[in-house]
Order: sequence, then structure tokens, then C-alpha cells
Amino acid sequence: MQPSSNPTQTPRRCLAPLALTALLTCAPTLSQADDPESTRAFVQRECAQCHGVDGNSIAPAFPKLAGLQHEYLAKQLNDFRSGRRQNEIMAPVIETLTAAQVDDLADYFSRQRRAMGTTYLKGMVRLGRRIYHDGIEERGVPACAGCHKPDGAGTPRSPLLAGQHSAYVLAQLRAFHSDQRDNDRARLMRTTAGRMTESDMIAVSEYIAGMDAIPAQP
Ligand code: HEC
Ligand code: HEC
Repeated sequence: MQPSSNPTQTPRRCLAPLALTALLTCAPTLSQADDPESTRAFVQRECAQCHGVDGNSIAPAFPKLAGLQHEYLAKQLNDFRSGRRQNEIMAPVIETLTAAQVDDLADYFSRQRRAMGTTYLKGMVRLGRRIYHDGIEERGVPACAGCHKPDGAGTPRSPLLAGQHSAYVLAQLRAFHSDQRDNDRARLMRTTAGRMTESDMIAVSEYIAGMDAIPAQP
């Protein structure tokens, strides 16, 4: 399957010669699961203002979704929907999605290529790198690399981090630290972040933002 951002891919249903007929027959509904363009149109309307149409948001408060694992994306969407993960902005967006739409959206964003991130506090990167790869032994903080992989590419359960906005990563670490975000299985992230200081969290967020983004999932 081609990445759905491929502009040369014309939906099969859109062969109608007249613009009006084309408009009617190509009206974007997400139920057309076999048609990647329809998911893109839905994303353009419902998600792009915050997350970017290709899942690479500009504003650092909005996470990049591009390249996140399908399983992780679906879990987060379902967690927002059930209230297991709470966020005032996402809750109303998610309310009306069907299970099939969640699957389509997870598929769409997992196939997008993540753009490079920006490190703002270069002086923190050394400490951040050490925490990411070695953890903090004296406080029992495990290495992030153990779950999120040394290159930050992650796994279906411990998601891609490389290139994510540092402000978003920091906000999530603070939320796990204070138990405000508590949708992590077996408290894996609450235990980890709970043992970190504010400067540990800032440092590792800066390092993560600067990690080379990896290619989209095949
Ligand atoms: C008005 C802005 C806005 C819109 C529109 C929006 N989002 Fe979000 N989204 C956010 C914010 C803010 C967060 C971070 C929530 C938090 O801090 O927990 C987020 C988080 C997420 C996450 C979790 C990402 C992660 O790394 O854990 C997913 C998945 C997501 N959004 C998907 C979507 C999808 C799919 C749509 C469209 C159907 C959408 N969002 C529309 C603002 C928005
Ligand atoms: C024992 C495994 C494990 C370790 C070690 C670990 N993580 Fe995680 N991390 C997870 C899992 C699992 C999730 C997904 C939680 C969920 O399902 O919502 C996660 C989620 C996250 C998120 C949220 C991502 C998003 O897009 O919202 C961030 C940020 C994060 N981890 C950073 C770190 C950092 C930094 C470290 C090292 C200090 C670390 N993690 C160590 C397993 C781990």
C-alpha cells in the first residue's frame, strides 16, 4: 500500500468528468476504508488544524502523530474516548468516532513520515542523552532506550519518540510524574517519570526532540 500522502494517487471513484458530479461522488466519508484519499480529507477537516495534515504539527503543544505505531495510536484514541486519558481539547474531537474510523486514522498517521524536531536548550542534551540511554541508577530510573529503543523508534506499545516536540514530551512526563496521565499499562511511565526531577525531564525532552526522525512504518 502506498503512503496516503502520495499526491499522484487518484481515488478510483473520482473519474467523473464534471466537477459537480466529481464533488458528489467523491464526498469524503471515512467509511470508504479502501480509499486512502477519503481518510486524508477527513483528517484535513477534523485534525489538521492542530496536528497538520501529514501528522507533523507546527505548534509544540500539539503532538506530532506522524509515524506513531498503529497500536499506540488506536489505544490513545480509544483511551480519550473512554475517558481513560483525559484532555479537554481531544475529548470532543473524538466523541463521535466509530471503531472503524479509529482504525483508519491510526493506519493513516502511522504511515506518515515524521519530520525532524528542534532542540532549544542545547546545554541540556548531554544529560538528556545519558538519561535516555543509561537511566539514572541512584534513583532507579530505567533507561528510556530499554522500551522506546536506542533510536527512539519505539514499539507498538512503547511509542516512537524521536523528533517529537520537546514541550509536548515534557508535558507528558510531568503528567505521568503527577499521575495526572494514568492510562499507561502497569504504571510503566508513572513509575519512570515519578522518580525524575524537573531538570531530568527537561533534559531528556530536549534530547528526544533532537533525535533523528525515522522513516514511516512500511
Ligand atoms: C483543536 C486541536 C486538536 C484537534 C482538532 C485534534 N487534536 Fe489530537 N491532540 C490535541 C492535543 C492538545 C493533544 C495532546 C493531549 C494531551 O496533552 O494529553 C492531542 C493528542 C492527540 C493524540 C495522542 C498523541 C500521542 O502522542 O499520544 C492523538 C492520537 C490525537 N490527538 C489524534 C487526533 C485525531 C485523529 C484528530 C482528528 C480526528 C485530532 N487529534 C484532532 C489537539 C487536537
Ligand atoms: C518499561 C518500559 C518503559 C520505559 C523504561 C520508558 N517508557 Fe515511556 N512509555 C512506555 C509505554 C508503555 C508508553 C505508552 C503509555 C500508554 O499506553 O499511554 C510510554 C509513553 C511515553 C510517552 C508518551 C508518548 C506520547 O506520544 O504521548 C513519553 C513522552 C515517554 N514514554 C517518555 C519516556 C522517557 C523519557 C523515558 C525514560 C526516562 C521512558 N519513556 C521510559 C514504556 C516505557
